[in-house]
Amino acid sequence: MVDAWRMVARTHGGPEVIAREAFVPDAPDEGQLLIAQEAIGLNFIDTYYRTGLYPAPLPIALGGESVGTVIAVGRGVTGFSEGDRIGTVSGLGAYATHRIIPAAQAIKIPNTVSAQDAAAMMLKGMTACYLAEDMIALKPGHIALVHAAAGGVGSVLVPWLRDKGVTVIAHSGSPEKAASVDADHSLHGPFENLASIVRRRTDEVGVDIVYDGIGKDSWTASLASLKRRGLMVSFGNASGAVPPVNLLDLSKGGSLYVTRPTLFDYIATPDDLARCAERLFDRMSRGVVKATIGQSFPLASAADAHRALEARRTTGSTILLP
Ligand SMILES: NC(=O)c1ccc[n+]([C@@H]2O[C@H](COP(=O)([O-])OP(=O)(O)OC[C@H]3O[C@@H](n4cnc5c(N)ncnc54)[C@H](OP(=O)(O)O)[C@@H]3O)[C@@H](O)[C@H]2O)c1
Repeated sequence: MVDAWRMVARTHGGPEVIAREAFVPDAPDEGQLLIAQEAIGLNFIDTYYRTGLYPAPLPIALGGESVGTVIAVGRGVTGFSEGDRIGTVSGLGAYATHRIIPAAQAIKIPNTVSAQDAAAMMLKGMTACYLAEDMIALKPGHIALVHAAAGGVGSVLVPWLRDKGVTVIAHSGSPEKAASVDADHSLHGPFENLASIVRRRTDEVGVDIVYDGIGKDSWTASLASLKRRGLMVSFGNASGAVPPVNLLDLSKGGSLYVTRPTLFDYIATPDDLARCAERLFDRMSRGVVKATIGQSFPLASAADAHRALEARRTTGSTILLP
């Protein structure tokens, strides 16, 4: 029997609801793998489950993204064996020393990538991948506005876009964060002034695409920064969910497009997942993007990690170590 423990949210609420508990991992069922975990990726989505913004039955075994070594293989699994280093970004239960995952959601980690870098990169990097590759056919000369550019997704998305020849206007919450971002324009400051600055920097035209993971606080500034027929990609709620939208605002803004995508629709099949992971590991191996682990916390201090993330005190990726 394995001695295992995990961090769970017993109720919805602030970081204080996160508690440590012992558990006995099941033996892997058909199609499943049991992994001993080495590193866990902290993601903003983890806070949405904790607060109840995203629904899940209580108590919630928190966390989606983790990396470890396979220690037991269920019946019918092909392509994975004991000792393989794998990761996953799907489901719940990542904040744990051990985890059962469906083999269909497992990603083989290349030998050249450490467990910590993989945990820092899989979810944020595959998100950056579909945002850069699968929204519109971005070409050199297109202009993108990226919010939270020094954050987890932002620190991968900005170089990915620039590698495609896209001009990036990056926005961050502080001068220090803005100074750490390598973009064509790296801005900081309140959302109220942002659209007029973006317009000035684009000959009053606006940008082709906005990547907005902030949500409520940045919605208006993002729409106002778009050029005629531009695309608003609203992919997160760091400041709270966007309230219901008046479609006429899109008309008034210049026949704007809006999408509200989620990674899990872009990696829904094993083939989609493998392709997305391959594109990410390719960019990592070519040095286009790299893991930027701004901070790490012991897994038992997951509540402190949530506090730092929600208070905008983190840069790059954050990992938890069991
Ligand atoms: N839809 C998808 O497929 C998908 C996948 C992954 C992540 N996401 C979303 O992408 C966003 C970024 O995720 P991440 O894990 O990489 O987080 P992160 O960017 O490392 O952290 C969030 C950042 O948002 C900014 N922010 C602005 N207002 C905020 C507020 N009121 N409270 C907290 N943060 C605020 C902060 O950056 P500044 O201080 O620089 O403003 C903060 O560092 C999140 O909204 C997440 O849900 C979506």
